[in-house]
Amino acid sequence: MTADYKVHGDVAVITLNNPPVNGLGYATRVALAAGLDKASADTSVKSIVITGAGKAFSGGADIKEFGSPKAVAEPNLLSVILAIENSSKPVVAAMHSVAMGGGLELALGCHYRIAAPGTQVALPEVKLGLIPGAGGTQRLPRVLGVETALNMIVSGEPVKSELLAQQPGQKLFDKMAASPESLAEEALAYARSVADARPLPLVRSLPSKHPLGEAYFQFARNMVKGMAKNIPAPAKCVDAVEASTTRKKFDDGMAFEREIFTNLMFTPESRALRHIFMAERATSKIPDIPEDTPQREIKSMAVIGAGTMGGGIAMNFLNAGIPVKILEMKQEALDRGIATIRKNYESQVKKGKLKADKYEQRMSLLSTTLDYNDMKDADLVIEAVFEEMGVKQKVFEKLDEVMKPGAILASNTSTLDVNRIASFTKRPQDVVGLHFFSPANVMKLLEVVRGAGTGKDVMATVMAVAKKIRKTAVVSGVCDGFIGNRMIEQYSRQAGFLLDEGATPQQVDKAIEKFGFAMGPFRMGDLAGNDIGWAIRKRRAQERPDLMHSRTADKLCELGRFGQKTGAGWYDYQAGKRDAIPSDLVNKMVEDHRKEQGIAPRKIADDEIVQRLVFSLVNEAAHILEEGIASRAGDIDMVYLTGYGFPTYRGGPMHYADQLGLFNVVQAMKRFQRNPRDDAGFWEPAPLLARLAAEGKTFTP
Ligand code: NAI
Repeated sequence: MTADYKVHGDVAVITLNNPPVNGLGYATRVALAAGLDKASADTSVKSIVITGAGKAFSGGADIKEFGSPKAVAEPNLLSVILAIENSSKPVVAAMHSVAMGGGLELALGCHYRIAAPGTQVALPEVKLGLIPGAGGTQRLPRVLGVETALNMIVSGEPVKSELLAQQPGQKLFDKMAASPESLAEEALAYARSVADARPLPLVRSLPSKHPLGEAYFQFARNMVKGMAKNIPAPAKCVDAVEASTTRKKFDDGMAFEREIFTNLMFTPESRALRHIFMAERATSKIPDIPEDTPQREIKSMAVIGAGTMGGGIAMNFLNAGIPVKILEMKQEALDRGIATIRKNYESQVKKGKLKADKYEQRMSLLSTTLDYNDMKDADLVIEAVFEEMGVKQKVFEKLDEVMKPGAILASNTSTLDVNRIASFTKRPQDVVGLHFFSPANVMKLLEVVRGAGTGKDVMATVMAVAKKIRKTAVVSGVCDGFIGNRMIEQYSRQAGFLLDEGATPQQVDKAIEKFGFAMGPFRMGDLAGNDIGWAIRKRRAQERPDLMHSRTADKLCELGRFGQKTGAGWYDYQAGKRDAIPSDLVNKMVEDHRKEQGIAPRKIADDEIVQRLVFSLVNEAAHILEEGIASRAGDIDMVYLTGYGFPTYRGGPMHYADQLGLFNVVQAMKRFQRNPRDDAGFWEPAPLLARLAAEGKTFTP
């Protein structure tokens, strides 16, 4: 049973009991409906209370059921709510902790509502690309007024019950309980006090209107346009709430809401957002590491190297209230690093994003040193020195010598072998890769690189630490480039081939930016520094001389055009500005290169550009998945969504490929094999991709 039924004298109490958040899945709805029937049949029962066990009243629909027959199987949520409205005995919702989505809609169907202070009230469906689908858009405006309701529905953000209770004229709560502890008793007393009230009040009978009428909704539509970013749901929220004011009959508004909800459910945008919702929660689970694995305590940490990454990494921990000690080789480097951290915080204070006292508080947690002995007691140390194995070796040998037993030794290396780094110590179980992305204080992504010998407790600890510093942590096995950069290398190679075949950098960037990427490959190269890729290609040329690359990127670097930092790259830049201006010189260089290669340029359609760039990511990702470097396709999607600017509303490269159909992806790859620049089997489908495509399956089961 997922709901308990108990009679207290003349009041029946139905307690939703489906941990963790009393989701309204099929079994819970059946139990709830059965409880209502029982209470209705029992002549000694005069009124009914619905409440939730544990940590929530109800968190709403069970999203695992979405799109499946179970989601709509009777009794569906609409039918349960209707049964409550039609009950001849008063039904009181007793809300606490969490009343969201379908949970709030259920409460809105009750005759009365009593809430504990601190209850998080929300209709968060918009975050899944949907609108509320069980009357939320029709009933919430009737109890909170159109504006408050619409703000809640469009943002999906929770509002505390006590704030809503203060709103003049609100009808959401008939009573506020004194405390969460007293809610149960107060709900019983309240249910008794209304036992004889007739007729029973219904939210559906209340009016919904806005004094400005249509003009207000036009204004609201303009407001959401800016924030909607290719996702249709926010504008649909406005339509649905407007219907609560314009439809003569309540049930017409309900039908309109239902129609929108059902349509949105099948949009690619909602599918993508629902996929992300699940993928995000899955990333923290490591298949062979149980959730109750003991963790080490992280009370203080140290950073080696106060450069670009070291400073940003330190800020993450300061923000989370964890003391940080930074070590450098020279005082000047320390001073420079600390000045940068200060500058970053000061700009946040100036923008009003950080309070001055908070800034001081954070800085007071930061200390510096030139001596390893000063940091030997840190629970975690993250190395962010130059990307050279020799330098890393010296640092890790020193750490092995000085750090207290049990300290976690992490490297922020972006390309080096974490197993090799671990071998410089006598404690490989304590060594792990923590690959932050630049700027490290801003970017959400953290690749946690699990070495062959990394301890399970170390993995469990760093995953928990990542949560504390609010990163999206994705576990990667050891390989060149880990998940993200290994994929981007193929994407960059493909971008180069597109130039060779006839495209310009601006055409490639525009096409993929129109697809939704934050930045195309050439603008990204200019931002990150084209010299980084140059160094990698030089290394590759030795390891894999057979691997073909467009030479255009090398030629660009030979001209000293490293990107924004040198004032010129694939594009020209004006001093102090970041606008990418197409460069005649670069376009001529690309043309000359084509001539040298004897390639006759052709016009390449934007669709082809997008497919070749995205599928180059997908194919490499399929190798990564099959090799076990990533444990789930969803993990790879999270890497690309949080670290590489892949468009959210497309759900990540793997989800996007799944939605296209892997068969179609493979077909396209076969077409690309006919391109003159297909070399060394670039477009040979990865075995996993070929297999799934042949079986009609998807990366995410
Ligand atoms: P950086 O050159 O800005 O900073 C490195 C700092 O380490 C310098 O301040 C230097 O004085 C200090 N340092 C060098 N050897 C040292 C030693 N033996 N002891 C103490 N301090 C020492 O470099 P950046 O960009 O911060 O990179 C650091 C690490 O982070 C590298 O492994 C890099 O691959 C990795 N990384 C860099 C990213 C980026 O976008 N810059 C992104 C992700 C990882």
